[in-house]
Amino acid sequence: MITCLKKFKYVSILSIITLVFNYNSLHAKEIVINNLRTEYLKNPIGIDVSQPRLSWQAENPGYNLKQVAYQILAANSLEYLTEEKNLMWNTGKVESEQSIHVKYKGKKLQPCQRVYWKVRIWDNEGNISNWSEPAFFETGLMNHKNWKAKWITHPYPEKVNDYNPCPYFRKKFRINKKIKSARLYISALGLYQAFINGQKVSDDLFAPGWTNYKKRVQYQTYDVTDLLKKGNNVIAVILGDGWYRGPITWQFIRNFYGKHLALISQLHIIYTDGTSDTIVSDKSWKTARGGIVRSEIYFGEIFDFNKEPKGWKYPEFNDRKWKNAKILKHPKDILIYTESPLPRVTKTLNPQKEWIGPNNEVIFDLGQNMTGWVEITIKGKKGKEIYLKHAEVLNKDSSLYVRNLRKAKQEDHYIFASNDTVTIKPHFTFHGFRYVAVHNCKPENIISIKGEVIHSDLEITGSFSCSDSLINRLQKNIVWSQRGNFLDVPTDCPQRDERLGWTGDAQVFCPTASFNMNTATFYSKWLKDFLCDQTPEGKVPWVIPNVIINGGGTGWSDGTASTGWSDAIVTIPYNIYLRYGDTTILKTMYDGMKKWCEYMISESKKNNYIYKTGFHFGDWLAFSEYYSYRYRAPDYGYAGAHTDKDLIATAYMYHSTNLLKKMAEVLNIKQDVIRYDTVTKKIKEAFIKEFITPTGRIVSNTQTAYSMALMFGLVPEKFIDTAAARLSADVKHFGHITTGFLGTPLIMHALTDYNYTSLAYMLLMNKRYPSWLYPVTMGATTIWERWDGIKPDGSYQTPGMNSFNHYAYGAIGDWLYSKVAGINPDISMPGYKKIIIYPHVNDTLKFVTAIYNSMYGKISSSWKFENDELNIEVDIPFNTVATIILPCNDPNSINIIPANIITKDKIIVKDNRIHINTGSGKYIFKIPKNMVIMN
Ligand code: BGC
Repeated sequence: MITCLKKFKYVSILSIITLVFNYNSLHAKEIVINNLRTEYLKNPIGIDVSQPRLSWQAENPGYNLKQVAYQILAANSLEYLTEEKNLMWNTGKVESEQSIHVKYKGKKLQPCQRVYWKVRIWDNEGNISNWSEPAFFETGLMNHKNWKAKWITHPYPEKVNDYNPCPYFRKKFRINKKIKSARLYISALGLYQAFINGQKVSDDLFAPGWTNYKKRVQYQTYDVTDLLKKGNNVIAVILGDGWYRGPITWQFIRNFYGKHLALISQLHIIYTDGTSDTIVSDKSWKTARGGIVRSEIYFGEIFDFNKEPKGWKYPEFNDRKWKNAKILKHPKDILIYTESPLPRVTKTLNPQKEWIGPNNEVIFDLGQNMTGWVEITIKGKKGKEIYLKHAEVLNKDSSLYVRNLRKAKQEDHYIFASNDTVTIKPHFTFHGFRYVAVHNCKPENIISIKGEVIHSDLEITGSFSCSDSLINRLQKNIVWSQRGNFLDVPTDCPQRDERLGWTGDAQVFCPTASFNMNTATFYSKWLKDFLCDQTPEGKVPWVIPNVIINGGGTGWSDGTASTGWSDAIVTIPYNIYLRYGDTTILKTMYDGMKKWCEYMISESKKNNYIYKTGFHFGDWLAFSEYYSYRYRAPDYGYAGAHTDKDLIATAYMYHSTNLLKKMAEVLNIKQDVIRYDTVTKKIKEAFIKEFITPTGRIVSNTQTAYSMALMFGLVPEKFIDTAAARLSADVKHFGHITTGFLGTPLIMHALTDYNYTSLAYMLLMNKRYPSWLYPVTMGATTIWERWDGIKPDGSYQTPGMNSFNHYAYGAIGDWLYSKVAGINPDISMPGYKKIIIYPHVNDTLKFVTAIYNSMYGKISSSWKFENDELNIEVDIPFNTVATIILPCNDPNSINIIPANIITKDKIIVKDNRIHINTGSGKYIFKIPKNMVIMN
């Protein structure tokens, strides 16, 4: 305090007092409670959770502030909540720091019930906040018995092994009273788009989402109050094949989940007089086929305006000629609520360039590789067919390069019925592309064209930027590949005949993804399909939902149990717990994780805890010296996994079992903690015996092997320095990374954790193949599947596997946030209740800024070299604690602002770094440049 006061020579005593009090008491009135969430979402409707979890944030500029108690009130109307009467729940003052995932424990929730709630808190300085603004959640049907609607399908004959037109359904009904509210509960076997009186019921796309439809089909709840009117109304629905029965995988398997598309729809209308009506799907619904002649995910769409019944989405349409729908006997207990936001159009892109291609096609460059489709406004010509092709890159002659799509087509065809100008886009397909070519159409007839970017509409939570424009572009590319591959499930790519939920890709990218966006609901939804698709022995399929039959013709295995891929069942729930403090997902997934670990353990026991049975992808697509440019081999880099697969498999088995043990601790499953403690020790022993020589050399001698052993904790204490030194020697020897899918997320962490930060920066800044910046310098706008998707001479990697939108190597994003900027969760207090800020600075960069919006609020960490000083600025949210680790070992040389908050006793020097334990607030640390540790 004295030092602080000295700085304010000219300020009056009164303002000093005010300043001091500002920090400590006057903030009381300013505690703002906001961001109220139920099950992670803002005012969700249609949630079938009997005890939804409530979260909130508190904001106040003060220091070291925590919640010490809260009170929640809940009521079934806004009036009751405001008047605080007839409450469903009044927690009273609960002494607790918990401000995330507080389970609703009020009156039992009824189906289709809206609950309003508000919260206030007490802080550790005796202040009480105002009540928050009210938030709400609304339950869905809660129980399949509340579905009065029937599954309906159409009676038209169909080709079983080929495409069919999309069926249309409509139901006309009258409303005679004043409407108070209306909800639509709806789902499909296939994909659907629903309209009421011609208006789309929602912006959601690809509803009902992709799950293992045999066991779970999501239904959606929409508030459609404003779409209905007194008099005649109509609900109109289109169904598409989608993942349900359209061709899937490179084997083009049709009817994977079933042969018949079907719809289930239940509309609840509540009138102002208290009465209600329910309109349900049944055989009174009318059905026909329309303009969508073909619609498939890999193919694209054919829309024939000649076949489109005019005005069929409106009540006035005469549907007498339409047939009656048919009831489809299909279970309803597979219907589940939708826990995560569905895909939506989140951005639109305008063409940056336009030219005429060699086939007279009009080509547009959207300037960005993206996933979605094109909306085009075009002057039609009766009877004429135009078509759009989509591609990620170009041929030398500036036409579209489509060979890397393999059997996928990415084409949209439109057949005109008149000379009118129409605006159109597809319904149930998506494309991965930057370039679109319009064929069979004069440029002057294209009135406008734009790309609509589609992905699961998750909340953006992170940003990273720095002084280097190429790194900034890399970060953008990572986010674009996340957008491109978060289409209801985490996919490998959005363009070729795959687009599948590849588990390995997803698990290496999960930490990065979870900085950029709030991924908790997205992964939680997807993880439940692991439980559906896991084999009875515990083997986890390569892709989830699993659509690969018997290894997909590869002959490698039955399509399950590959190390680093199947481990997604363990690593992703762990990550969700670490980053969102979510124990529910641990409970849900525990048996599945345990089954996978037990499977690996039993396999490894055949070889004394070395897991070497079965097929593994290994360090997929790693740089392979033998196939490098030096040797001019035709297919360099292809599938070159030079790190022994049994080393990787044993290391991953150890890693997963170790995480399982930690999760058993969290869930207090004592016997498992003991079991996995013993087993991990045995695996480690076996690993050391088999793969580490008595002098500390690791077999295989690769960057991936060293990084994995170090990061997973498999190197005996005495060899850690040797292992880290050997890793660094290998990096220096090559001058670049040699890692594939599994080693890439680890190497940079290994280098920074073991004091080779400068070397990590060397790899980061490397612009030559293989490196993260090589694709950036080649014009990449997304992350490539291959380090050399485009070779230095401009030619392309093998078309059999060359996606330009594959996020796996984007896993470096996690390192940018957590090591370069230094924002880290701490497993001892998950969900960022405790934050570790540990920037690894290097003057290769002049400044870095990262923001992460955690469950508790905004965390930020920025640093800047300026005037021979390093300036670090940190923001720690209310109700959290932080350990800030500074790249300096001399507390006397640093200057901390404000000076009165971090007192000397909070500063310690450990492992050659300054460690400061503190709480909420904004801090600035100034370190003379010559005192900054940069290695
Ligand atoms: C996919 C991947 C996947 C891999 C398995 C590829 O075809 O695109 O990214 O992880 O197969 O190794």
